Order: sequence, then C-alpha cells, then structure tokens
Amino acid sequence: RTVYVNGDYLPEAEAKVSIFDRGFLMADGVYEVTSVLGGKLIDFDGHLKRLHRSLGELGIAAPCSDDDLLAMHRALIEKNAIDEGMIYLQVTRGNPGDRSFVFPDASVKPTLIAFTQNIPNLADAPAAKTGFKVISIPDIRWGRRDIKTVQLLYPSMGKMMAKKAGVDDSWFVEDGAVTEGTSNNAYIVKGNKIITRQLTSDILHGITRASVLRFAAEAQFEVEERPFTIAEAQAADEAFSTAASIFVMPVVEIDGAAIGTGKPGPVATRLREIYLDEMR
Ligand code: PDD
Repeated sequence: RTVYVNGDYLPEAEAKVSIFDRGFLMADGVYEVTSVLGGKLIDFDGHLKRLHRSLGELGIAAPCSDDDLLAMHRALIEKNAIDEGMIYLQVTRGNPGDRSFVFPDASVKPTLIAFTQNIPNLADAPAAKTGFKVISIPDIRWGRRDIKTVQLLYPSMGKMMAKKAGVDDSWFVEDGAVTEGTSNNAYIVKGNKIITRQLTSDILHGITRASVLRFAAEAQFEVEERPFTIAEAQAADEAFSTAASIFVMPVVEIDGAAIGTGKPGPVATRLREIYLDEMR
C-alpha cells in the first residue's frame, strides 16, 4: 500500500511517526473513516465537517485545507487502485519531543496520516444478508462520545466480548437505554417508525445516520429520536446499525432474543438499498 504521512506518499513500510507523538502516548487525536464505492468517496463533506468539529472541541489545529484533504483522499484512491473500501484519516496533536500532560504550544504541528483499506465486497457484504447478532454491554466510555477520538480501547474490548459470545457486535447500554454500537449508531423499527437515540454528547453524530434519516423521511417513514431499552429493542419489529463501514446493517438478535422474524427486516433492507442507490 501507498500511505500518507504529513505531506508524503510512501510505501507503508517506510511511513514513520515519532514515539513521542501524542496520539501514541495520550490517545490525543481524532479520526474519520470514509467509505469508497466505485472509486468515489461517500459522504466526504459530512466527514470533513465532523473532523473540524472534533478538532475544534479538542483545540487541535487543522493540518491543512479541505481541498488538500480531498486531493489527498483522491490520490490515495488512485495510487492504491481502490474501487471499494475505506480511507482512514487520523490527526493527532503531534510530537512535542517528550511526554507531558500539558498540551504543546502552536509550534508543534499536528500529525496527519491516512491509508486505504481495499474491501471488494463492502456494498455486497455477506453479513448484510444474514444480519448482525449483538449482545448488550455497559457503556463505560468517557462523556464526550460526540468527539471522534482515537481512544478506542473499550469499543475494541466490546468487539472482543461479542466475539467471545459468538456474535457480531456489542450495543452499549447506559442508564437502562442503548447509546450506540461499538462503532455504529443503533436503531429499532416499530411499524412505520424508526427510533434512534437523539444527538447529544452521549453518542457519535454519525454521518451515515444523518443521510439515512434524511432518506427515511423522504421515503415517508416516521423518525423518532429518543433513547430505547434492550427490552424495547427485543420486542421491536426490526433493528439495525449504521456506519461508514457497514452502511445499513440489519440486527437480527439481541442478547439471544430474535428480533421480529430473526431475519433482516424489510425496512432495514430497503434503507440499505436506498442508501447505496443514493450515495453511489
Ligand atoms: N465508526 N458510533 C461510533 C462509536 C462509531 O465509531 C461510528 C463510526 C459511528 C458511525 O458513524 P459514521 O456513520 O459517521 O461512520 C457511530 C467508524 C466507522 C470506525 O470506527 O471504524
């Protein structure tokens, strides 16, 4: 792979970041994942907007202009001949040359890296045909989940708990209600109504979420933004998750209880089709 580090395109084995980088020592950085379909970036403007919001909340300077970021993404797609897959971008507070809890001054420039992941069947994912099974686990993450930081240890542990339980993902629960999945937003469907948690600092403001809810409203679904419980989800007609990495993914089982028929439901299936049609 050809990857990007601070202005340079390099073979991945030659790409290097300092051991003092605050992303490495302090998880002091933010990221975005943008999917690629037919060589085209999906919802890139949304990802750029959220990147700026994350950087702003943490007081990390933008590493370069949006035009440069777009050009860099396009160059990576071309250099790596990506038709379907994802681009990972990360900005950290950079390398102060030592370890300190105090942020460095503005002379320390942020570190910008990006790389591609080639996933030929991203749109035609086999998992979308059978749906995800999930377990619920307590949400013990920090209180600013609206900032897309690289602090992913607990989500990663949540994925491992799911794996150990023989399922596909974990949904986080706080104060009795679902917040979101380990790396996706969570929804249930009851009749014509799509229910998903409202946007606060409790969850990441998904870019896929925004598009899917817009398409759902256009398709005459009712959208209700509020918390829901695991019991309510288990009794729902359908459930699903959204993220740049999975688009719309049906969820067919929660904590061992089948949702609806236990198969991907018509609403999730239709929203996935609409999303892919509209974005491609
Ligand atoms: N994760 N919630 C969390 C906690 C996430 O990590 C993500 C995305 C989402 C969905 O956001 P979006 O629709 O903008 O992708 C919700 C990315 C894909 C990841 O970490 O790989």
